[in-house]
This record gives sequence, structure tokens and C-alpha cells, in this order.
Amino acid sequence: MDQKIDALMQQMTLEEKIGQLNLPGAGDITTGEATNSDIATKIKNGEVGGLFNIKTAAKIREVQKIAVEQSRMKIPLIFGMDVVHGYETVFPIPLGLSCSWDMSLIERSAHIAAIEASADGICWTFSPMVDISRDPRWGRVAEGSGEDPYLGAEIAKAMVKGYQGDSLTKNNTIMACVKHFALYGAVEAGRDYNTTDMSRIRMYNEYFPPYKAAVDAGARSVMTSFNEIDGIPASANKWLLTEVLRKQWGFKGFVATDFTAINEMVSHGLGDLQTVSALALKAGVDMDMVGEGFVTTLKKSLEEGKITQDEIDRACRLVLEAKYKLGLFDDPYRYCDTERAKEDIFTPEHRRIARETAAQSFVLLKNHQNILPLQKKGTIALVGPLANNRENMDGTWSVAGDFKNSVSLLDGIRNVAGDKVKVIYARGTNVVADSALEARVSIFGKPTYRDNRPADVMIREAVNAARKADVVVAALGEAAEMSGESSSMSHIELPENQRELLKALLKTGKPVVMVLFNGRPMAIKWEQEHVPAILDVWFGGTEAGNAIADVLFGDVNPSGKLTATFPQNLGQVPIYYNHKNTGRPLPEGKWFTKFRSDYLDVSNDPLYPFGFGLSYTTFDYGKMKLSSDSLTGDQTLTVSVPVTNAGDRDGKEVVQLYIRDMVGSVTRPVKELKGFQKIDLKAGETHTITFNITPDDLKFYNYDLKYDWEPGEFEIMVGGNSRDVQSARINWQK
Ligand code: IFM
Repeated sequence: MDQKIDALMQQMTLEEKIGQLNLPGAGDITTGEATNSDIATKIKNGEVGGLFNIKTAAKIREVQKIAVEQSRMKIPLIFGMDVVHGYETVFPIPLGLSCSWDMSLIERSAHIAAIEASADGICWTFSPMVDISRDPRWGRVAEGSGEDPYLGAEIAKAMVKGYQGDSLTKNNTIMACVKHFALYGAVEAGRDYNTTDMSRIRMYNEYFPPYKAAVDAGARSVMTSFNEIDGIPASANKWLLTEVLRKQWGFKGFVATDFTAINEMVSHGLGDLQTVSALALKAGVDMDMVGEGFVTTLKKSLEEGKITQDEIDRACRLVLEAKYKLGLFDDPYRYCDTERAKEDIFTPEHRRIARETAAQSFVLLKNHQNILPLQKKGTIALVGPLANNRENMDGTWSVAGDFKNSVSLLDGIRNVAGDKVKVIYARGTNVVADSALEARVSIFGKPTYRDNRPADVMIREAVNAARKADVVVAALGEAAEMSGESSSMSHIELPENQRELLKALLKTGKPVVMVLFNGRPMAIKWEQEHVPAILDVWFGGTEAGNAIADVLFGDVNPSGKLTATFPQNLGQVPIYYNHKNTGRPLPEGKWFTKFRSDYLDVSNDPLYPFGFGLSYTTFDYGKMKLSSDSLTGDQTLTVSVPVTNAGDRDGKEVVQLYIRDMVGSVTRPVKELKGFQKIDLKAGETHTITFNITPDDLKFYNYDLKYDWEPGEFEIMVGGNSRDVQSARINWQK
């Protein structure tokens, strides 16, 4: 490969090399006759390295043909897209997917996305998004795997493996792009595109692990984030892109910016377009998404001595290498088989797996007096603004999916309930009462249907339906477009009008099950206190309606566990399980103690802790056993715990292992996830779960950013969530 690239680059002009660094959106090439579009002219001129947001094997073949037949160097293009949680078969939003804690399921979902996307001409996905976030206001929390670096790293690996498989040259794998590098999930106030400011020690220990894990798993590309790091926007941050990513982590792929991230550095205040483009190249950016800063200014910067030929060559080589790795030089039409598209996209098998996956992502938050599962007889009042709309099932960044193919909850219940169940549907209210807010939510989004009947008329209709029913299922929460990019929220409670509907339904005295749609942790304290059952279903994708019905009727026993803490109210944010102890911790079990780290008006407890989720059965944890309480050097500690399914239904449990390093040269979190196992237990069955811990599991980045472990006392904790654990102390010396 190296020699071929050398030979190619020797023949390339400066302009052609810079052209490889240019990643425009597909623009008019998808709308007009391909060969006559503006983009086509640029491709012919050798000014384009890749395109994004164009799909179908036929269209991509047409465009690729322009590159390989009409440009001087005949270099193929790469075609990217945000294939984030599935392709046409849409899987649950990543936050939901993470709640499955099932790595093989997650890998499989990414693999199916790769099969479908590659069958449609795409060879590069802008995924996985691995930003750790502890701020539910941030709309993009929906796109990540929650708050934990260990779990986030495991998921990052699974996603990369799912997309890239064991060889990128296979025509059913696609290249991953890890994003958004870095720290995008920590934007101030949860406001999208905002500033991030963080200590290095926190970056390395708490935010970097998933990016690094994705790089270690072989991800061939990385996308920069919009935020600044240490005062320098990511796309110009040489320390981040070269020192950390390439030198410390050994990343060998190429770095692309996010959409116009180079141009945005003008607004950040780093200089004009020429200046910021040069800064980006020098920092380690190889490809410029959409903004055309590279293609319009790098030549001038080279002439003025602001950048070097070597820097351009480096970036060009990395882009060409990616094309080699994808096999595009052998066959530029590798992903353009229109027959495959007919066979491999949106297949019944993919939909079956999507349904199974969605059911695994749901989290049962409350189930008072086992109101769930529902019986397959009697009358159900299905109420709520999210009960009968397909457009709300896919969630954010389901670019290739067609929501018209998705299964609504109403359809799902009808499909699963059987003919002994009568369903009465009533909308009850709109998602939000404020039509101006709803309009903002809908910009660029999927259409949200608004019912303009007076609120009291809608509520009355829902109450009448409830009165005639044995049980009420209330489909409430957020519209899909209330989370995702540019969808930050300063209120994370259930909208007031929906709570009014709930109150009216509860007043009927009928049992109410709330099915909560959401792209973020929500502050649903009132609902937790008043509604008998709550099932969190995120945005479950194409098969969401069927999958929700599978769980509501007990065909599938829920097993999801939260990967992000739910606060009691927004004032507690950021709230996360792996926090520091502080010098004045609140004594355990207390709400308030004067001069301790707490609030006057709310306890420190989350509404639902990280790792929490109920089942239709119960799991009893026996006594945890440790192989030793005193270890040295490279010994292995074995932790075992018997877990019994104590109910009368088969079920799955996620057994979680946490460790606390009691004394360190720097302060350490009160607990950190270090292992988990998702197990299947038949009713009455017991399994003894074993975790092996080695000193590697005790390592962290110290003040000098050296990754090592320190001898001393450790607390070992095991449980079904991060709060309810049993613990024991050990001593581990070097
Ligand atoms: O991949 C995305 C990114 O996550 C946000 N900005 C636009 C990119 C390309 O669509």
C-alpha cells in the first residue's frame, strides 16, 4: 500500500492533494443530474476526497464514476453518512442501546447497520459517538452511552467491531469514525456547541477512555468536536489531535472535522478562515467537513510558509490510506451492488433483531403491585400524544430510516395483544402545550402532529376511555426531536400538560402504566411518586411499538439497566454515581447535615441510580466471596456471588462490580464500575457469578498523568445497581 500511495502522490498536484482533504455534503448532486451539478465539477477537478449524505448504490455508483473516470487522477471517493443506530432498520437510540448492557447485541446492531449501509453504497459511518455525558440538558446525551467511562469503553469497542468487522475490505463492513473528539459531552450548562473546561486528570480518567477504546479497537477515523479544550477548539488543538491521539494512543487513521468546525473557529476568535484552516492542518486535522477552508486557503498558506508540504502530504496520505483499506482502489464500486441493496436492507431478519434489541433496551423503573405485565384480555385505554405516531419511534439521527415503516405503540399493542384485548385510543394532549416550542422542536425534524382541539376536550376524551378500561397505558414523554443535536432543554420534567393528563387519568382510579419516551434522563419524581408503573422505552427504532408491546404483555421480561443517573430535579445536575467523596461527605442515609456537601431542599440521592432497572422477576444476591483479602503484586482477586432468580419468571440480570480505591495520591471516585455480566436465569435458578480482578483494573492516571495503580485498601462492591451493593475491603500491596 505504501508504495502505491507514494507512486500516486508523486503524480498528484498540490491542488489534487488538497482536494483529497475536502469533504463536502452531497448538495445538488443528489437532486440534479449528477454529472451537471456543482459538486460534479469539483469532483472532476480533483477537489473532493469524499462525500456525505448521499445514498443508494445506484446514485453512489454514478458519482463514483465521475471520480474514477473523469478526474485526472481517477482516485475514488469515500462516501460517509451518520449511520448512528441502524440504517433503514433503525435500532434504539444509543442511550437506550447502552441500557441493554449486552455487548454482543450492540455489536450485532452495528453490524446490521454496516450490512445495510454498505449495501446502499456507504462505506464510512460517523459513529460511534462515545462522548461521556452527565448532563441531561444536553440533547446529544441521546447519542451516547451515558455517564460511565468503563461501560462507555466496552460499548465503543463493540460498535467499532460491529461496523468494521475483521476486515474493512469486505463489502459488508464500513469504516467507523469515533466522535466527537473530545469532551463534547461536558459542554457547560448542557448547551450544545458550548465551552468545555476540564482538568487533564479528569479527561484521562473519566472522559477519554471510550475514545481510546475505540482507537484501540481499530477505528480508522476520528471526528473532532465543536468545543474547545484548554482554550483551543478541538479542531486546532495540536495537543489533543497529535500528542494524545497519535503519539500517546498510536492512532493511525485520519481525522475529519465535524460539520464546518474549521470555519467556526473564526467565531471562536482564532482568526480568519485562512488562519484557522492552517491551524487545523497543523494540529492534525486531515479532512475538512463541508466548510471548504482547506480547499480554499491551504495553497496560499503553503506559499506564505504558514504550513508545510509535509503537513499536506501527511493528511493526503492518511485519506488515501483509508481508501486503500476500504478496498476502493481495487474496486471503486465495491459498495455499489444494486442487487445487494434489494436483498440486504430492511429485511425481516433485521427487523426481528431490531425488535429483540429494542425490548432489551427498555428499563422498568417502577412496577407497583406487579401491575405489569398486562393480561392479554380485557380493555386497555391507550392514551397520550406518543401512542399513535410512527414518527416518534426512531429518535435522533436516524438519517436513512423512513419513519413511515416504524411500528407505533398502538400498532404494536394490536399486533401483540391478541383478539381478546379491546384497545380504546385517545390522544389526551399534545407533546407540549406551547406551540412555539413545538415549532422549534420540529425545525429540520420529523413532522409532529398537533391536535388543535381544546385541552379540556382532549383530556375528557382520554378520561372517558380510561373509565371504560381495565388498565390505562399512557404514552408520554418527549418527542423524538426534543433530544439530539441542537436540542438542549432547560426543563427535563414531563411537560406540564402531560402531567395534567396523568393526574386526570389517575383520578379515575384505574391502574395507570406510563410508557416514557425520552432521549435523556428525565426528572420524573412526581410520576415516580404517583404513577404505579413506569417503563422507560427511549426511542426504540423501527420495531419499537412491537417491542414495547412484547414487554408490556410479558412476552419479554424487561432487563435494561440505566446507564445515566436520573436526577430528582434539575438542580442536582450534574449527578453521577462515580463522584468524588469531597472533604465533607454527607453521612450515608442522611438527607441534610449542616456544613456537609448537600442541599437544603433536596437530598443527594438520585431518583434512579446508575445501573438501576427492575424485572418482572426478582433476583436475590447471596453473600459475596473474595478469594483473599490480602494480595500482592500481580495476583488475581476472584470475586464470586451467587445470584438467584427468586421469582416465577425467567429473566436476565446485569450483575455489576464496583471498586473504590480508598487512598490515593489524588482523590478517587467513591465507586467505579470495573466489570459486569448479563446473565439469563430461569425461574428458581441460581448462578454463581465470578469476576477476576487484576492490578490492571486498579490503574488510573495520577497527577503526572502516569497510568498506574497504587497499593493500599480497596473496597469491592457487587450488586444489581450502583446503589444497592454489598461490599468488602481488601488490601493490595505491590
Ligand atoms: O456526524 C455529525 C455530527 O455528529 C454532528 N454534526 C454533523 C455531522 C455530520 O452529519
